[in-house]
Amino acid sequence: MNQGKRVGIVGAGNVGATVAYSLAMLGSCHEIILRDNKIEVAKGKALDMSQAAAAVRSHTVVSVAESMEELTDCDVVVVTAGSPRLPGMSRDDLLMINANITKEVVSGIAKYSPNAIIIMVSNPLDAMTYVALKESGFDRSRVLGMAGILDSSRMAAFIQEKLGYGGGQIRASVMGGHGDDMVPLPRYSTVAGVPLSDLLSEDEIDEIVDRTRHGGAEIVGYLKTGSAYYAPAKSTAIMVEAILKDTKQIHPCAVYLEGEYGYDDVVSGVPVMIGANGAEKIIEVTLNDKEKEMFARSCNSVQTLIDTLNENKFFEEA
Ligand code: LAC
Repeated sequence: MNQGKRVGIVGAGNVGATVAYSLAMLGSCHEIILRDNKIEVAKGKALDMSQAAAAVRSHTVVSVAESMEELTDCDVVVVTAGSPRLPGMSRDDLLMINANITKEVVSGIAKYSPNAIIIMVSNPLDAMTYVALKESGFDRSRVLGMAGILDSSRMAAFIQEKLGYGGGQIRASVMGGHGDDMVPLPRYSTVAGVPLSDLLSEDEIDEIVDRTRHGGAEIVGYLKTGSAYYAPAKSTAIMVEAILKDTKQIHPCAVYLEGEYGYDDVVSGVPVMIGANGAEKIIEVTLNDKEKEMFARSCNSVQTLIDTLNENKFFEEA
């Protein structure tokens, strides 16, 4: 009966609602279903967005699932549910709170949308992607985390700001986990194909790297009551579209590593070819010693969070 593409979004706060809005404006799918405990607010946003879709002659309808049971047969489910980052709070502070929320949500997705591809957005991102993978029992190709596109976009914006030109021509590359020790890769960043090192001094590049690492916190510092959502949502929508349109394009995403880059049983951000089946191919980029060391530090941070979850017997509970 339902031939059109269905996208579920769990958590209709700023990020979730903005993902829905982006997809609705593009007409990327037939139906977007919002799931949030604040049902009335979600209903209001859904109506508002369906009307915006009508305004741009998009066929997308936005509706609300009053429980996980109603979030059925989705092709993609985006999970933004969780406690947001507040000023002074690290992404890791959110670990246990959001791990429990993720566990509950993901078991619902596995039950009611068993063929979905899950895109995790909740923080701490890499650990939550790990939780989603373990709790869903899905193949690793069907559980991705959004962060690399966001972090690379931040780096690109900072490069543009520093240069004063090149907007829209910048390819910035960031790998590793979505934390303070993420791995911006100036060596793989270009402006219209020109290496960054031919355009900026080492100090300027270092400044951009540092600002990228703290790009999320910079925005939290201004917003005070929450974290960024336009760029996180757009980055998520890009992943959803890549899946729905089977683009087979490469995007940096958080995925479960099984030997790639020498890591196993951990989630980290790496270039991934995305298509209708999710993470269809994990790309291994050649890293120099310094980059390998940074990537190791980042993977270790994620590992520490996974260890904390294990110490709390998180994966053993019924
Ligand atoms: C950020 C938060 C959401 O990077 O992790 O903006």
